[in-house]
Amino acid sequence: MPIPLLEIRDLHVAVGEKEIIRGIDLTIERGTVHALMGPNGSGKSTLSLALMGHPKYTVTIGDMLFEGRSILDMKTEERSLAGMFLCFQYPSAVPGVSVANFLRNTLMARHKGQAPLKPARFKQLLEESIAKLKMDPSVLGRYVNDGFSGGEKKRLEILQALVLQPTLSILDETDSGLDIDALRIIAQGIEAQRGPERAILLITHYQRVLNYVKPDVVHVMLHGRIVKQGGFELAQELEARGYDPLIKQLVEA
Ligand SMILES: Nc1ncnc2c1ncn2[C@@H]1O[C@H](COP(=O)(O)OP(=O)(O)O)[C@@H](O)[C@H]1O
Ligand SMILES: [Mg+2]
Repeated sequence: MPIPLLEIRDLHVAVGEKEIIRGIDLTIERGTVHALMGPNGSGKSTLSLALMGHPKYTVTIGDMLFEGRSILDMKTEERSLAGMFLCFQYPSAVPGVSVANFLRNTLMARHKGQAPLKPARFKQLLEESIAKLKMDPSVLGRYVNDGFSGGEKKRLEILQALVLQPTLSILDETDSGLDIDALRIIAQGIEAQRGPERAILLITHYQRVLNYVKPDVVHVMLHGRIVKQGGFELAQELEARGYDPLIKQLVEA
């Protein structure tokens, strides 16, 4: 058996005194797309932030292994350099830093110690990625997320992922608030990240995006636990009937 890309073992995460993630096991193999669904407040964003090592989110029990190695004592930057990447649900602005410089810096940090990417190659990678996402090239000169619309912010997150080519992309509600055309483009950007060595954890409240990016496994999260797993049909069932029947079933059990 090859070592899984990501292995989460009995993970418990607290914010202050409050336990939010209450025992999660999740294994992600290379080459797969996993969807993590669940109603608002179930702990999806908390899990993604804990994975990236946000200082506010304390792991109280359990472990997280990336490529077979515990990441618990790695800083966010180290996790990112190791190949993990998080698209935030609420990206923040970075005034004074242009998109082009931002991407160049993150890419340089990621390839620290290796031969630097040739400027011409970087330019080509940027242009290809921008075209894929049907973005206006003038975005490169703008400050990161400064005055960006919701949809533009989401595209920039995917643009980062396309340029950085992380081994594990964690996409937190990158599909929310998009109209159907933007959704399709974002979905193509997500699809472009598939590869035999890579994996995607696609966090979403709605099933919509999964019509374009077919997940191999669907997990449903409720009150800080994964309560159900299945294939694409599970996402379809949730779309048709909502989360209530599942919640009811669990309460009665
Ligand atoms: N930084 C925080 N401070 C206090 N409570 C938080 C914080 N982050 C998350 N929570 C709480 O954790 C629960 C799960 O939130 P969240 O992970 O954002 O859920 P989801 O992404 O599934 O909507 C909520 O009750 C939320 O209020
Ligand atoms: Mg969230």
